[in-house]
Amino acid sequence: MRLFVAITLPDETKRHLRFICGGLPNARWVAEENFHLTLRFLGELDGREMAFVDAALAGIRAPRFTLRLKGVDAFSSGTKVKAVYAGVEKSAALQHLRDKVESAVVRAGIKPEGQKFTPHVTLTRPKDPPIGKLKAYLAEHSLFRTPEFDVTHFTLFSSFLGGEGPIYSAERSYVLTEPRAAQIETQHQSGA
Ligand code: 2AM
Repeated sequence: MRLFVAITLPDETKRHLRFICGGLPNARWVAEENFHLTLRFLGELDGREMAFVDAALAGIRAPRFTLRLKGVDAFSSGTKVKAVYAGVEKSAALQHLRDKVESAVVRAGIKPEGQKFTPHVTLTRPKDPPIGKLKAYLAEHSLFRTPEFDVTHFTLFSSFLGGEGPIYSAERSYVLTEPRAAQIETQHQSGA
């Protein structure tokens, strides 16, 4: 199964994202129900590998936090634009969770990713967008900003690549702890 770990977004946040999906020619926009913030792409795993990953993710103890989506930008490779995305306001708690997910999946036998984590929510992977239009789009939405939302869990998704776009299914969700509970656990681990 093709798998990835992601944070799901509240409906209200998805609606904010939908408002900025438009204005680029030949772009197929991500369907509203598919918006997500990828923490770790895992690729194809068999049932045994998935069970190891699931057990490792289930062992993560990290606190809940709030997050806000902010700004828009694009990933490019050379002159090719790969994806247009909504950015994420800097968050130490998000980076902390991502680090925990990374070490958990590596412990479960997955190769380390080795790439800097750039949190984002992909909006479209446009085909050769006219550069002027792309610049205008990015300028138009530079002040994009959602209300803060609570991140209470993260999810292991499977992805089925159909002709009509991918179908994502939540395989398992992992609850983040109340901040107080995480604090007690940290103190306990450090012997305090
Ligand atoms: P992104 O859109 O957040 O960048 C499910 O396929 C998700 O995994 C995609 O939304 C994409 O995340 C990420 N993904 C897919 N293929 C990938 C790859 N080869 N390397 C890294 N991330 C990938």
